[in-house]
Amino acid sequence: MTRAIRIHQNGGPEVLRWEEIELPAPAPGELRIRHTAIGVNFSDVNVRRGGFYLARPLKFPVVLGNEAAGVVERVGPGATEFKPGDRVVYAGMEGGFYEDTGAYAEARNVPGARLIRLPEGISDRQAAALMVKGLTASLIVNRLFRPKVGDPILIHAAASGVGLILCQWCKHLGATVLGTVGSREKAKIAGAHGCDHAILYCETDFVPAVRRLVPPGVAAVFDGVGKDTFMASLDCVRPFGMLVNYGNASGPVPPLDLLLLAKKGSLSVARPALSSLTGDTATMRAAAAELFELVKRGILKVEIGATYALRDAASAHRDLEARKSTGSMVLVP
Ligand SMILES: NC(=O)c1ccc[n+]([C@@H]2O[C@H](COP(=O)([O-])OP(=O)(O)OC[C@H]3O[C@@H](n4cnc5c(N)ncnc54)[C@H](OP(=O)(O)O)[C@@H]3O)[C@@H](O)[C@H]2O)c1
Repeated sequence: MTRAIRIHQNGGPEVLRWEEIELPAPAPGELRIRHTAIGVNFSDVNVRRGGFYLARPLKFPVVLGNEAAGVVERVGPGATEFKPGDRVVYAGMEGGFYEDTGAYAEARNVPGARLIRLPEGISDRQAAALMVKGLTASLIVNRLFRPKVGDPILIHAAASGVGLILCQWCKHLGATVLGTVGSREKAKIAGAHGCDHAILYCETDFVPAVRRLVPPGVAAVFDGVGKDTFMASLDCVRPFGMLVNYGNASGPVPPLDLLLLAKKGSLSVARPALSSLTGDTATMRAAAAELFELVKRGILKVEIGATYALRDAASAHRDLEARKSTGSMVLVP
């Protein structure tokens, strides 16, 4: 037996229940991980609400969560890569992030191919706070749009989990970082993580604010907010620039007329999914190794804005949805 946060129906944070669940012995190729820190992600809220990406209805009850760090406790048949006591982290399973969940638990069986070994110098909490958000930033910066020295980049929700990592990474690459933020407090936090110009987009229209700072427009926009920012963001990008929509914290982006991209100056739009990076074990582990190195070199600071007991996951969800969070949130079993 182990204890976990489960939902038996979609709904608000009140549907999260702290329950005892059966945990079978690890199957062939699997390992039992005793979780020490669990990362909270907006996708957890989407699954709880009734995620809009689902190909088929969820089979309740569902244990939420995609990301956790911990210690190998038991080794299943043939899972020879790890041994009891090894420190590991994971970000997603083999299925979709909206379907193959189960990290909001004291312990879980995980296929060995999904695990990333934790090096010295990276704590369990840092790893749980970093993996999904950092790999998402890696997907954007390494695969879609790598800022060059002097490139102006606009990062929406700059003080969010992914936002703070993007700010630091872009600044490190020599970009001028513009960031939208929901409050003055968030502006300060973004500023401490490489954001050169914070724009309070709840108080001011961000398009003219960006154009005042960078009249020709930015080289790229990195947008995890979605519905409320996507269309206006097209007016912030300079000709031949790119808008990367990687998330929908405010809701899904409406269908896009491709001709609009021609009219706005031969723009490109990208819509990444983290599973394209994490689907291949070697690619995922190489990207994680780069993140650990950037943290060890002090280039990326892992900002844990709040820590909650696992059984209080509903409080974390309430804060996330109320836009109270900064950086990453971690649950501790
Ligand atoms: N494509 C992928 O594979 C992938 C991977 C990871 C994450 N994501 C997605 O990327 C987005 C950002 O992730 P994250 O971890 O950085 O998120 P996060 O830390 O939970 O932050 C989300 C931020 O979005 C802003 N926001 C704007 N409108 C909002 C609304 N109506 N409700 C809630 N928040 C709102 C808030 O910042 P302000 O108060 O500053 O506006 C909030 O703090 C999420 O949608 C997530 O699901 C996608």
